Amino acid sequence: MENPRAKLPIGVFDSGIGGISVLAEIVKILPKEEFIYFADTLHAPYGGKPEDVVRALAMKAAEFVSSVGIKCLVVACNTATGAAINEIRSLYDFPVVGMEPAVKPAVELGLSGKILVMATPLTLKGKKFNELICHYKHRSEIIPLPCPGLVEIIEHGRTCGREIEDYLSHLFSFIDKEAISAIVLGCTHYVLIKKEIVKVMGKKISVIDGNYGTARHLKTILQKEQLLNNRVVEKPEIPLKANIKFYISENGKEVIRRCRQLLQNEGIVCESEFSHCG
Ligand code: DGL
Repeated sequence: MENPRAKLPIGVFDSGIGGISVLAEIVKILPKEEFIYFADTLHAPYGGKPEDVVRALAMKAAEFVSSVGIKCLVVACNTATGAAINEIRSLYDFPVVGMEPAVKPAVELGLSGKILVMATPLTLKGKKFNELICHYKHRSEIIPLPCPGLVEIIEHGRTCGREIEDYLSHLFSFIDKEAISAIVLGCTHYVLIKKEIVKVMGKKISVIDGNYGTARHLKTILQKEQLLNNRVVEKPEIPLKANIKFYISENGKEVIRRCRQLLQNEGIVCESEFSHCG
């Protein structure tokens, strides 16, 4: 029997537009679902703030998204997950899915070089990430690379061009590029500049993110809980039509335009509504 909650939307939140890279993967895997996307742009970026501040912001974001009425929550932010996932899980009776830098899949590639993990300063300082590194450090050499200021550039829509290239060139000037065989994108914003990262690295390299894995994991959980939405949709075709309701914590028409554009780049058009919820 179908769970009565199955028709409710899936809630997704991030500090800003980064979580759209996760949402795009979820829409592709679960085209029958409806979504709420909350971008906490008023408080972005999270990654340079103290952990207790981010924990409070993430809990507030979760509270807002859940108040709209959802059947499960995706914390599409590595930084918020590291700071608050346990606290969020303890408050709600629906499934809560978080993100962590995809170190496991990178190690399992079995490449001979080092693994570079790009993430926000807070993610890399956090207990969760350091436990993850401890677990895998015997199998690969893992190099954490904090990227302060990178989320701000992406959040302003400058996902390609001179500014981002200069930022990355400077960042990579501190590492031995030849020794690196894989890069883990441990922040959902960085997935939006994957091409620039490869370009500035200037060599063939595996770039791994956790988005597809998170979408698969979410599908497994929804299946297990009998929470999959079985509504009839037109045969999924490109462009995929997604039903997404956006909420932004500041009055940001420009943010919403960017979210829609990013989804469109992934072959997704949205029948969407937008609300400001300061
Ligand atoms: N997308 C967030 C993450 O995955 C960015 C955090 C921030 O706002 O600094 O960590």
